[in-house]
Amino acid sequence: MTVIRLATPPDLTAVRELLGIALHDTIDPTSPALKIFKKRGGRVAVPFGQSLIHVTETAGNVTGLIHTAPPVVWLQSLPHALTQILQGRVQQIEALAVAPEHRRTGTATRLIDTAEKLLRKQRGIFNFAKVRADDPAALAFYTRVGYTLLTDQRPLVFDTKAGPLDLAKLDDGYHVAVKAVQPGTTIGETKYCYYLTPA
Ligand SMILES: CC(C)(COP(=O)(O)OP(=O)(O)OC[C@H]1O[C@@H](n2cnc3c(N)ncnc32)[C@H](O)[C@@H]1OP(=O)(O)O)[C@@H](O)C(=O)NCCC(=O)NCCS
Repeated sequence: MTVIRLATPPDLTAVRELLGIALHDTIDPTSPALKIFKKRGGRVAVPFGQSLIHVTETAGNVTGLIHTAPPVVWLQSLPHALTQILQGRVQQIEALAVAPEHRRTGTATRLIDTAEKLLRKQRGIFNFAKVRADDPAALAFYTRVGYTLLTDQRPLVFDTKAGPLDLAKLDDGYHVAVKAVQPGTTIGETKYCYYLTPA
């Protein structure tokens, strides 16, 4: 049986390995992020909300991981009124990885469902991730689980009580994958932009 739970300090080795897979890099065991994890586990207060690491466990082994957090830098760059409105309501997938021998069994789908459910509960609007433009598996995965890929210059535009806002494609070799999480909401597109519907 597979369970999904918050990561805890004893998961350190598996968490380090899976973060390395997700970020295509080796994670320095002395990095500040891992030091914090070692002390506090998978739930840490950060500006605008919480950084959460959930893992899947099968037969005592950690097989997959999802790390979500508020998009702190983006939120900090917005006017105060917008930050107030969006606080806790947009979430970024910082890392998602499944151990190679456990792939294509629905593990990442279950992890991302868990993250979306938590966001939905706190009146969240959308979940998004930066996905490498040269990673067909990750792009196929996000498309399959209902994410829209911002692959060209059209931004995602949405309205808030404090005015309109947009989330734009990044020009650094990544696409943005985005999904509206409230029931009945979705992402539409025109020739000029993507938009949240209903607004
Ligand atoms: C991308 C990744 C997280 C998918 O994990 P997973 O547990 O295998 O995904 P799931 O089993 O939930 O896949 C669901 C669907 O996504 C699509 N998908 C997943 N992996 C795919 C692949 N390698 N090629 C094509 N489609 C793929 C399929 O439609 C799949 O459904 P199917 O198996 O019925 O065909 C995993 O391959 C991984 O850890 N990759 C390395 C790290 C990474 O790239 N992370 C994402 C960075 S943001």
